[in-house]
Amino acid sequence: MTAAEASKRGPKPAPRRGAKGLRHFLDLDQIPTATLRAILDLGHAYKRGDVLPGDARPCTGKTLAMVFEKPSTRTRVSFEVGMKQLGGFVTIINSQESQLGRGETIADTSRVLSRYADVVMFRTLRESSLVEMAAHATVPVINGLSDKSHPCQIMADLMTFEEIKGPLAGRTVTWVGDGNNVCASWVHATAHFGFTLRVATPKALAPDTRMVERVRAAGGDVVLFTDPAEAVDGADCVVTDTWLSMGHGVDGDAALKAHIAQLEPYRVDDELMARAALGAVFMHCLPASREREVSAAVIDGPQSVVWDEAENRLHVQKGILHWCLSGTGA
Ligand code: CP
Ligand code: NVA
Repeated sequence: MTAAEASKRGPKPAPRRGAKGLRHFLDLDQIPTATLRAILDLGHAYKRGDVLPGDARPCTGKTLAMVFEKPSTRTRVSFEVGMKQLGGFVTIINSQESQLGRGETIADTSRVLSRYADVVMFRTLRESSLVEMAAHATVPVINGLSDKSHPCQIMADLMTFEEIKGPLAGRTVTWVGDGNNVCASWVHATAHFGFTLRVATPKALAPDTRMVERVRAAGGDVVLFTDPAEAVDGADCVVTDTWLSMGHGVDGDAALKAHIAQLEPYRVDDELMARAALGAVFMHCLPASREREVSAAVIDGPQSVVWDEAENRLHVQKGILHWCLSGTGA
């Protein structure tokens, strides 16, 4: 359907107030395993080109609104291209250029966007804003990264692991570096897919203890380390991320020097990768700082699958959009 044809259909009907069972995609620990499995399978199918045109119908003629409080390359472009490939439309709001930047509330923005769009993707500085957006939306809301998690990225990473290394169950993934938002979504994933996650961080930068305990209670196998070499021994996949996440300050600030300094022993280089299993892969969600969290030799070397991860954002997010717009309930 063209934009002109869509506009002929008239305004979007007012959504049901307080609609229940919306298919929000907020965090991997809030979504049933079977649903995540189905979304991953859709991602693989979209990539193979197996999804028939009719199967993409839930997105045809629908609009995705994306709200950004922080910069983005991959999330913005992969969602836009994906939604368009599924026959939908996209509108993008940078918070500082919208009334959000002048103090309009997230709740009011959410109510308004729900009247124009069929699904909202939100990249936010604060988890509480994501919760507020979802609480007031009458359409599904997707977490495009918060200070606490990055579920879309980890769906792409899980898909990448499966296509290169096979099933996740019984395998070992090692996170090295800052126990940040991306790390948290890896922790969440362990409760669903039967792999072991080893997390090597300085003690002060370990992932939130209560979150880890909750995931363990739900069946996740998460083992915390401070020694990166010990954590990487025999791993099937080694993952890291920037040492300085968005919203944590400006690189070069004196206040961040100590944060960076404690991460120095956690750089992923050839020596560390040599401890992993034969054929282990290296992952990084990007953007990367070469020679800081990872050496150029590793990220640009034969074990690196970072470009596959970036590509798979597109395929798996088509699965997420498909699921969000296919109905209600898990
Ligand atoms: N990995 C990721 O989310 O990248 P962007 O910040 O470019 O969206
Ligand atoms: N941890 C990083 C991920 C960027 C995609 C950040 O939050 O900036």
